[in-house]
Amino acid sequence: MGFVVAIDGPAAAGKGTISRAVADHFGFQHLDTGLLYRAVGARVQAGEDPIAAARTLTPNDLERPDLRTPEIAAAASRVATDPALREALVAFQRSFCALPQGAVLDGRDICTVICPDAEVKFYVTAAPEVRAERRFAELSGKGMAVTQAQVLEDVLARDARDMCRADAPLVAAPDATILDTSDMSIAEAVASAIAVVDKVRAPS
Ligand code: DC
Repeated sequence: MGFVVAIDGPAAAGKGTISRAVADHFGFQHLDTGLLYRAVGARVQAGEDPIAAARTLTPNDLERPDLRTPEIAAAASRVATDPALREALVAFQRSFCALPQGAVLDGRDICTVICPDAEVKFYVTAAPEVRAERRFAELSGKGMAVTQAQVLEDVLARDARDMCRADAPLVAAPDATILDTSDMSIAEAVASAIAVVDKVRAPS
């Protein structure tokens, strides 16, 4: 079993950026588990059965350019309420936790369900308005026709669905370090995450 950093949090809190930076810094592999749900959501939107889609996911599915659209995000959040679909994605995610070089996984249930024994756990969050502003900048930067109000509405709807579902709801694990990035720059958030991991890897 390698060293595992588990990161949960709501949409656009900075999980992805922090996960990639921590993985790069320590030479760990990174798995964005949201991509699995987005890839299944995309195939379900095209008429497929969610379980069949989960069982036949390929690397190509995870590289589709349209996975980052608000429509696919909403589809991912909807399919993610299905316990059977979640179960179908567990083994792949757990296999990642066993990588000998170490791994960073980010999502909604990594600290609580997928890797409850992770060496380091984070709950990365930020105020909804701040998250909506960041997501708006990201989407409009890619040329997508969205308004800030619409993005805030999507973020709040997704929060509600992800936090209130019966199976594996998004919640901060009691032993997770809370990282509220509302008033932090990317560099500050990354530095504080790296400092926490460093302390666990080489306690002084
Ligand atoms: O992290 P993301 O925004 O790409 O995730 C998209 C959706 O997938 C999210 O709204 C809920 C679902 N998801 C989940 O239920 N569990 C995970 N571990 C990761 C994502």
